[in-house]
Amino acid sequence: MSRKPFIAGNWKMNMTVATGTKLITDLKPLVKEAKCDVCLCVPAILIPAMVKAAKGSKIKIGAQNVHFADHGAYTGEISADMLNDYGVKYVIIGHSERRQYFGENNDTVNQRTLTALKNGLTPIVCIGETLSERASGDTENVLTRQLEFGLHGVEDVKQIVIAYEPVWAIGTGQTATDEQAQETIKFIRKKLGKMFCVKDANRVRILYGGSMNAGNCKGLMAQPDIDGGLIGGASLKTDFATIVNFEK
Ligand code: PGA
Repeated sequence: MSRKPFIAGNWKMNMTVATGTKLITDLKPLVKEAKCDVCLCVPAILIPAMVKAAKGSKIKIGAQNVHFADHGAYTGEISADMLNDYGVKYVIIGHSERRQYFGENNDTVNQRTLTALKNGLTPIVCIGETLSERASGDTENVLTRQLEFGLHGVEDVKQIVIAYEPVWAIGTGQTATDEQAQETIKFIRKKLGKMFCVKDANRVRILYGGSMNAGNCKGLMAQPDIDGGLIGGASLKTDFATIVNFEK
């Protein structure tokens, strides 16, 4: 079953209007021939300027979060309508940093995911185990809970992108091996097949994330179940284009 590869960057809390515009301007000619979908998830306040900078290129601008309420008294949050105002298509949900530092859990991930879908946004739902969970053989249980609770009530799983990001590999330079990533993502796809149906699970794009860079992307992308990457550090430089231009 062919799935279109997808390379998404996650700028996290980095860049300004000036540095972000410069990077996108530099990236544009470099990703002109990209065969995959390309997106940069930027800080909310940069979205208008980055949409402008990316205009006419393969780069779509995404967000790093969306609130589950349509509007209201939620200081500091961003609604789906606000993202839609700027033509944002993708939104990261449940990143491990949100879970670790901002109290997000499988329930809020679920609510945000359903809200994104209801409003025509494509959620990039992040799941992944910590080092101690992997060490104690708990990886599959953790991922199962994240999927079962996080995707509860989702009607069409094909509209979702999953990012498997082992927490121990994020920003540490310690990438999962090609085999570890493949094996775990294969498990995730099998689990989705049980929760929804095998045919739909085979159409869900599942990304790997965690210290993916220009040097290791080829081996990861060559794995049959890995459909792309969610790239943090390496999306802050033109190296991102090398990842985008991989040969699958
Ligand atoms: P990293 O981040 O590539 O810097 O490890 C990935 C992520 O957190 O999405």
